[in-house]
Amino acid sequence: MEMETERSSDRGQEDVVIEAIDIHKHYDTGKVKALQGVTLRIHRKEVVAIMGPSGCGKTTLLNCLSGLDQVTQGTIRIANQDIRDLSDRQLTLFRAREMGFVFQTYNLLPVLTGLENVELPLLVSGVSSREARARALASIEQVGLLDWASHRPAEMSGGQRQRFAIARALATTPSIVWADEPTGALDSITSQEIIDLMLTLNRELDLTFVWVTHSLDIAHQASRMITMADGLIREDTPVKTQTSIGTFEERGAQR
Ligand SMILES: Nc1ncnc2c1ncn2[C@@H]1O[C@H](COP(=O)(O)OP(=O)(O)OP(=O)(O)O)[C@@H](O)[C@H]1O
Ligand SMILES: [Mg+2]
Repeated sequence: MEMETERSSDRGQEDVVIEAIDIHKHYDTGKVKALQGVTLRIHRKEVVAIMGPSGCGKTTLLNCLSGLDQVTQGTIRIANQDIRDLSDRQLTLFRAREMGFVFQTYNLLPVLTGLENVELPLLVSGVSSREARARALASIEQVGLLDWASHRPAEMSGGQRQRFAIARALATTPSIVWADEPTGALDSITSQEIIDLMLTLNRELDLTFVWVTHSLDIAHQASRMITMADGLIREDTPVKTQTSIGTFEERGAQR
């Protein structure tokens, strides 16, 4: 594969899906400086793990990059679109089209079945009910849970809930999936299954993943590891793993 010999400097701007330039985020009219000048670029198909102590700004960074929250200062471009140039409505649609979200606590609606939870973002973004059903079922198949489609979250295990949450994130065919501590509520075996699923989707669907995690073991399975402290990036390194000859090293070197 030609990419194997590619060096960081060879990668073009068109491959950058997430770009943050000197972003700052202050809360409480400046009393809390949650981000103090973060600059980073993430390329298509990278799997980036963000680590760092509690309160260092990981969730704030994810929320700002994804446009859920507004930065105090700085520039964010997603797929070369400066998100500041979008109206609230445009940003909502842009987010729905480009991004999926996975949370520690799944955020599935308890009154809806697994299938209905996955359909919901499609219906919200204006897809017909017929197409929403077909696409939701295809996503659920991708996470291997077709048999559970008519069950409600309360009847599912944590791992199954997170798979449905991932199916929901995939259903809108995003280019980026943000995952804030996606395995934080799961035991280690189930955590690994969820990580394996996301890595498979990364390979098969060319999806870019940004994970926030407290687990070094999980971070080592990403292609790149970013460590934050006090609202700043302290370390940003490609991950090299022996179990993934080629693929990860290749991707890790693409910055
Ligand atoms: N809505 C908010 N209003 C005021 N301060 C906030 C708000 N959200 C976060 N903060 C503060 O910003 C800082 C960064 O918080 P953030 O949630 O990004 O940390 P984190 O790295 O995700 O931590 P954790 O690992 O505990 O999830 C903290 O000091 C936090 O108290
Ligand atoms: Mg957090």
